[in-house]
Amino acid sequence: MSFLELNNVTKRFSTPKGTREVLRSVNLSVQEGEFAAIVGYSGSGKTTLLSLIAGLLRPDEGEILLQGKPINGPSPDRGIVFQNYSLLPWMTAYENVHLAVAATLPGKSAGQQREQTEHYLRLVRLDHAAWKKPKELSGGMRQRVAVARGLAMRPKILLLDEPFSALDALTRASLQDELAGIWERERTTVLMITNDVDEAALLADRIYPLTPGPGATLGAAIPVEIPRPRVKRELSLSPAYQKVRKQLVEFLTGDHRATVSGASR
Ligand SMILES: Nc1ncnc2c1ncn2[C@@H]1O[C@H](COP(=O)(O)OP(=O)(O)O)[C@@H](O)[C@H]1O
Ligand SMILES: [Mg+2]
Repeated sequence: MSFLELNNVTKRFSTPKGTREVLRSVNLSVQEGEFAAIVGYSGSGKTTLLSLIAGLLRPDEGEILLQGKPINGPSPDRGIVFQNYSLLPWMTAYENVHLAVAATLPGKSAGQQREQTEHYLRLVRLDHAAWKKPKELSGGMRQRVAVARGLAMRPKILLLDEPFSALDALTRASLQDELAGIWERERTTVLMITNDVDEAALLADRIYPLTPGPGATLGAAIPVEIPRPRVKRELSLSPAYQKVRKQLVEFLTGDHRATVSGASR
């Protein structure tokens, strides 16, 4: 049994123009402790897929299981980091993280909660900016707070929806390195969504490509056999990286109409 499992998940939305099938027969299995990534074009249904796993949406068909149990709604089991920092603007970085700690560890003393909050702020190297409010922080720092808050919930799985895509290239690269380091230390199970093939290859153990929608579905997992720790600037020289990139690009640019559940569209 996989840690997180999606079996034939289909999601439709009603729109003024009729029913729109965004996801069709999606299958996914994430193992405990693994870093899995989903790569797909924008508008293909990535956020919809993550919202289903988060329990914010319900599938029309199929099932989603976490440790064998069906997902029935949102829960601190699943920490989420969205693309556009969802921090509370009137609270400091510290308070934003503390909120998650207090919600997850209500039985702990004030001192223990403070220690936990400080731990997660240190993890994302923000202890020096703990008392700043989101508007006083750069985009990269805000996303670090969001990651700290996601981890502070001690989720069974951390769900990341294009967390770095609004950042400039340099900030993005340094946050990718930080996330790789944090994951190697904490070994939280992670499912990251990205539209960046290199980001996925740098971070993930396995990458699932999502076909363009409508009726988007995941292809078979592509294993990333690049040894860790991975160094971004050396990635392009690695034959394992070149293989992953080729497989992904071939899948994402290929014609899947015939292969998606054997159905016509
Ligand atoms: N609540 C909704 N009602 C109708 N259509 C939606 C809704 N949410 C998303 N969609 C549509 O589903 C498709 C996939 O959206 P989304 O999951 O946000 O894609 P991505 O995250 O890959 O960019 C888009 O065409 C979007 O317009
Ligand atoms: Mg999205």
